[in-house]
Amino acid sequence: MEKDKSRKLRIGVFGGARGTTMIGVLLHHPDAELVAVCDKYVPLLEDAQKTARECGTEIAVFENFDDFIQYDMDAVVLANYATEHAPFAIRCLRAGMHVLSEVLPCQTMAEAVQLVEAVEETGLVYAYGENYCYMTHTFEMWQRYRRGDVGEIMYGEGEYIHDCSSIWPQITYGERNHWRNFEFANFYNTHSLGPLLTITGLRPKSVVGFEGKPGEDMLALGCYRGPALEIVTLENGAVVKSVHGNMKREPGSIHYELYGKKGMMETGRLEENQPLNVYREGERRCIGAWEKYEPQAEIAAEAAKQYQTHGGSDFYPTHFFIEKILGRPDGAWSIDIYQALDMGICGLLAYRSVLAGNMPMEVPDFRDPAQREKYRNDNACTDPAVAGDQLLPRSSYGEPDIPDSVYDAVRELWEKGENA
Ligand SMILES: NC(=O)c1ccc[n+]([C@@H]2O[C@H](COP(=O)([O-])OP(=O)(O)OC[C@H]3O[C@@H](n4cnc5c(N)ncnc54)[C@H](O)[C@@H]3O)[C@@H](O)[C@H]2O)c1
Repeated sequence: MEKDKSRKLRIGVFGGARGTTMIGVLLHHPDAELVAVCDKYVPLLEDAQKTARECGTEIAVFENFDDFIQYDMDAVVLANYATEHAPFAIRCLRAGMHVLSEVLPCQTMAEAVQLVEAVEETGLVYAYGENYCYMTHTFEMWQRYRRGDVGEIMYGEGEYIHDCSSIWPQITYGERNHWRNFEFANFYNTHSLGPLLTITGLRPKSVVGFEGKPGEDMLALGCYRGPALEIVTLENGAVVKSVHGNMKREPGSIHYELYGKKGMMETGRLEENQPLNVYREGERRCIGAWEKYEPQAEIAAEAAKQYQTHGGSDFYPTHFFIEKILGRPDGAWSIDIYQALDMGICGLLAYRSVLAGNMPMEVPDFRDPAQREKYRNDNACTDPAVAGDQLLPRSSYGEPDIPDSVYDAVRELWEKGENA
């Protein structure tokens, strides 16, 4: 059936936990309406309905994705499990719906192949919701880099340190098979690496991965992986370092820095409200000037400032997704499937590097169909439900035997609404 182009975009949200952020944006967006929410956990559906009613909107709710996808929608936001985005994105695209995917884009290289093919074959919009690229500081760095303010990148760093141990019961519910428990160290890499790729617009060429030894603290909560590091060489020869994990620091650390041929930019620790520092060399070597300032959002600034979470980023992924569907110029800021995979597969391949004793791994360019072939049947991952006989260990330090009592204790805390 031909869609009525004069109506607002009808958008549904799959996953009502992190999904509350996109639910909030959609309920107030002038060009879109929230029409449905799907989550198997009923209290989240009740919350979504309540929020919608407070905004004068009635929404449909579904416990089951098979029913949800039948509903009349133009687009779907995927805020379900981080390891299951690709199969659901493919189902939505094949059913004729545009997709905004939360992080990560895919769990295996084979999924990356299937996902890019689904996007190309349907011609629909796929947007990657890596909001860390749109924090006020990183988005400013993106715009300044593109204006040539510090010259071509030579080196960069991205850091996402978040000790989730205390909230582990609230984000894993004591489920042994929750993705946060079985994922390997380098998987969740796009908060740290992503902004360096959007800022520079460059492709990764190769990656070397590292995993530090896992600590006892997370093991006591049912999770065994260490801090992760990816060293990525970009197509121009620049090297960038991406580091992330559950490490001890409060508040956590979100930090980016980038050295170019004419200067550098650094965010400082964003959780500590640092200014953006920009150094630019002048006419003479080693003589330049610093700017230290609080950047102000300039794009859709009025609307964006209603959403100050995650460094002022949380409005933009959904907004740029809508702009892209509507064919407007700001849709160009939306992160497409190719850049999403550039980010995401660096983490998958970094873990291969870890398991191979830190050998460098070439990062294929999924824009080129010929480079995809090698990975078409590559299901290697740490998820037993997906890997089949290609199952990888959860940590390069081995698979500890974690008794059920550990998960039972976490579950008990979740049921009582208590932190660990
Ligand atoms: N970008 C960010 O800043 C940010 C922050 C938090 C989480 N996330 C991402 O958001 C996503 C969701 O994370 P979360 O923190 O909400 O935790 P989560 O992954 O535990 O929650 C997923 C939600 O989806 C529901 N769900 C999953 N599969 C389902 C299915 N088949 N049918 C019905 N419901 C289903 C679950 O019941 C749950 O409420 C993840 O991809 C995570 O990486 C991103």
